[in-house]
Amino acid sequence: MIDPLFDDDPRRRTRELTPGAHWIPNFLTLPQQAWIVDRFHEWVDGPVPVRSAKVRGHEMSVKTLCLGWHWRPYRYSREAVDVNGNRVLAFPEWMLRLGRRALIEATGDPSAGDDYSPDTALINFYDADARMGMHQDKDESSLEPVVSLSIGDSCTFRFGNAETRTKPYEDILLASGDLFVFGGPARLAFHGVTKIHPGTAPAGCGLAQGRINITMRVTGLPSE
Ligand code: SIN
Ligand code: MN
Repeated sequence: MIDPLFDDDPRRRTRELTPGAHWIPNFLTLPQQAWIVDRFHEWVDGPVPVRSAKVRGHEMSVKTLCLGWHWRPYRYSREAVDVNGNRVLAFPEWMLRLGRRALIEATGDPSAGDDYSPDTALINFYDADARMGMHQDKDESSLEPVVSLSIGDSCTFRFGNAETRTKPYEDILLASGDLFVFGGPARLAFHGVTKIHPGTAPAGCGLAQGRINITMRVTGLPSE
């Protein structure tokens, strides 16, 4: 029998903010988070260093590195042409599996991940002062869902609507280990990070300060 008070079914903890926008707190365990942070340090030492992309001449406060395809404002390429020209690391197999599991958990549909093949990941690092203004993820030519994972300090994440960067929107506290998926009618919703909450990274997550966010996406570009 399932006790309604103590049922540990993770789906009970999920919340759909708007149709297609799913929030799943505590999706990643602390050891999983720490393992991913170890990978982050390897990626930082890889062929393309982490950097602040320039949007219309202004450096973003967030630092980004990419896997699979390199993102720069408004487009993707295999080589980091605005950094050092090197090809980015391949999109890892484990991340593909994690992305599929994320969709299953978000939707409760065991087949939700079957056709999901993200081919790029943007890994963003936020220090205590970093922010991300309201924007749409629309540099991809595919409308497959975006899978977002957070590690380290909590942030205030603002998730809105697809028509305007203003209200209606909702502010939620995305914490270490949380999953957020936006697809379907929410795929082109405006969203942003209005605040990092320093000192909130849990012990054992692998990151003493700052926040890492990984977003997996499907570029819609040909694989070669
Ligand atoms: C993004 O919008 O690409 C990143 C969102 C986040 O850091 O949670
Ligand atoms: Mn985004």
